[in-house]
Amino acid sequence: MPEEFFTEKSKDAVKICDDVYWVGAIDYKIRDFHGYFTPHGTTYNAYLILGDEPILIDTVKRGFFGEMLSRISSVVEPEEIKYIVALHSELDHSGSLPAILKIAKHARVIASEKCQEFLKLHHHNLNLQVLTVEDGTTLKIGNMTCTFLNASMLHWPDNTMLFLHERGILFSSDAFGQHLATRERFSDQVSNDVVMYEAKKYYANIISRYAAVVTKKLNDLLSRNFNIEIIAPAHGVIWRGDLKGILDAYLKWSNGVPEKKAVVVYDTMWGSTARMAHAIASGIMSKGVKVKVFNLRSTDRSEVLTEVLDACAIVVGSPTLNNTMFPTVADFLTYLKGFKLKNKIGAAFGSYGWSGEAPKEVLDILKSMGFEVIEPPLRTKYVPSEEDLAKCQEFGTKISDMVLSKTA
Ligand code: FEO
Repeated sequence: MPEEFFTEKSKDAVKICDDVYWVGAIDYKIRDFHGYFTPHGTTYNAYLILGDEPILIDTVKRGFFGEMLSRISSVVEPEEIKYIVALHSELDHSGSLPAILKIAKHARVIASEKCQEFLKLHHHNLNLQVLTVEDGTTLKIGNMTCTFLNASMLHWPDNTMLFLHERGILFSSDAFGQHLATRERFSDQVSNDVVMYEAKKYYANIISRYAAVVTKKLNDLLSRNFNIEIIAPAHGVIWRGDLKGILDAYLKWSNGVPEKKAVVVYDTMWGSTARMAHAIASGIMSKGVKVKVFNLRSTDRSEVLTEVLDACAIVVGSPTLNNTMFPTVADFLTYLKGFKLKNKIGAAFGSYGWSGEAPKEVLDILKSMGFEVIEPPLRTKYVPSEEDLAKCQEFGTKISDMVLSKTA
């Protein structure tokens, strides 16, 4: 529902369970989250634990301070907040820290050493009274018991999680988040397909770069035998009910097990590379391998990456423009390179006029990423003939055979 239909009451805190409230903000308008396309907006989740000593967990992006304050004020006088936990210094979560500290003047900030270091570099001249926590630190705050867990590199080096023992809530910071702006606050209130797609997209674009760390941290978390009933991330809806789906998905994604699936991604100038892309895709499909085809002019790189995450093969097509690859393809490959994906097959193709450097350039980049590449790349001069399209189909069949043998 559009934001303008909201009543004032919608700026109230949302109760998660006894003594715990969501006091964050909903950003319906954001479409670019540091290079990640967010067609459904996002939320900045802040939480309030109203035990004997009120604890605020994280804040919101600076422009949303009023919304957070309104929600806090609906359940407690903001001046009464005794502690503010900073799980992560990135500005979507710490942007309103200076403003809330002007009101909750005596609140003590709780943060890891790394988070403090980063907070000081984001908020110059902020005089923080900080209580430092380390991995495994347990604090008894009034009638609430909080254990802090190092979640370094899930997304930045300073990410921390907090487990609230009395309520079984894991405040997971960036992990398990989704960029999804909805009035609903819980995973069981929205379509499972929607929330799992957004969680996967978020994992691919925000978390996956350090997949090995994710596996280790998740196993470490699960080995602590905490009775986790709710996972409250920094973005999107709060996970409750059956948590196995999201936990298993994280383990699967971080283990990098490829599916019988290929992604064909391309740009095209006069439609020739597009025709090659679809002929290659039909060759891949002929043996039962799933294929997703994307034109980079109509699909954002963050959405392509979401499908690349669990694909076994990535097939990249580029026409040659001015003796090099097409700019959108270079953009996509630069983005892809940052994620250090493993265990993938790479292939390249493209139509050209007279020099035709692009497919080889693309293949060299895929090779430099450690992909098992198919050589030589497939090229077509100008418009593909029926014979050329048959070669594309054959190329697709070869990719399919490799996928099947890798995923057998
Ligand atoms: Fe939503 Fe890494 O911050």
